[in-house]
Amino acid sequence: MLINKPADIRQSEITSEQNYLNRRDFIRAGSIAGASVLAGTAFGAVIPEGERAKLPDVSKSAFSTIEAPNSYEDVTTYNNYYEFGTGKEDPYRNAGQFESRPWSITVDGHAEKTGTFHFEDFMKPFDLEERIYRMRCVEAWSMVIPWVGISLADVVKHFQPTSSAKYVAFETLNDPVRMPGQRRRVLEWPYKEGLTIAEATNPLAILAVGVYGETLPNQNGAPIRLVVPWKYGFKGIKGIVRISFTEEKPPVSWNIAAANEYGFYANVNPEVNHPRWSQASERAIGGGLFAPRKPTRMFNGYGEQVAHLYDGLDLRKNF
Ligand code: MTE
Repeated sequence: MLINKPADIRQSEITSEQNYLNRRDFIRAGSIAGASVLAGTAFGAVIPEGERAKLPDVSKSAFSTIEAPNSYEDVTTYNNYYEFGTGKEDPYRNAGQFESRPWSITVDGHAEKTGTFHFEDFMKPFDLEERIYRMRCVEAWSMVIPWVGISLADVVKHFQPTSSAKYVAFETLNDPVRMPGQRRRVLEWPYKEGLTIAEATNPLAILAVGVYGETLPNQNGAPIRLVVPWKYGFKGIKGIVRISFTEEKPPVSWNIAAANEYGFYANVNPEVNHPRWSQASERAIGGGLFAPRKPTRMFNGYGEQVAHLYDGLDLRKNF
């Protein structure tokens, strides 16, 4: 986002995909040669056991796109998670040892039910759904990701916000020991995000706990992260430990870092360019270096479901 260096280009787009995979599997298998177990070759990668577990009772959703999802490899090795480094492969490389259990989530602010909950207890009232969504990063690349998650509207209703609650704010874990990227002040930590109550209760908004039918890998925000597919990817805050119902618009990380470049709403909008690049089109990850760019769609193609949320709002000013 602030930093756009050659590291943003995946090895796989420079090397041929097969050479890249061969080299990677070789390196990975070598680096865990001492470990006794190898498992999970289902998506073509060799991954140490324990990292991946199938999620039970996941129902399909009518909100899923019929577009073909990116590979597991794309979804889990090309990431933004500055708590583990600013390069696209840093989260995959550096988050492996991160322990996402035990985990607790604090719910506070203007709501009838508040408190601190073990992740497993927090999850109990909610049903798991697969949501295959387009994801458009503000950096003008995109993917299609098969998330598994719970409806954020259900979560909001469960905690019964009072009439004073106008926004829902989220915070990531703040732990520079476990999240080495937080030792550098590339952002103000912890990472923070927020939505209006109307956005948070839109049926498209979810808290994701998995991808590809399995628990969320650390680099994708384990154990729980936000997904709001009509907004730029940076709204999708990872590793959530706090959910607050607030009366005031909450400060959000990228807006704190560069208010002229990243707004609170961050709706995907091909007509409002980033000050340093066009938002009119996007590079679909996995398409290869020479694939034509795709035109970016208003609200990332989810206008039918969300455009009404912004009636009367000037989307150029409220970008
Ligand atoms: N959440 C936290 N805590 N820290 C981050 O650096 N990066 C954001 C978002 N959530 C980020 C974060 C950005 S810029 C994007 S594009 C998405 O996560 C990327 O999600 P993905 O890596 O699962 O594709």
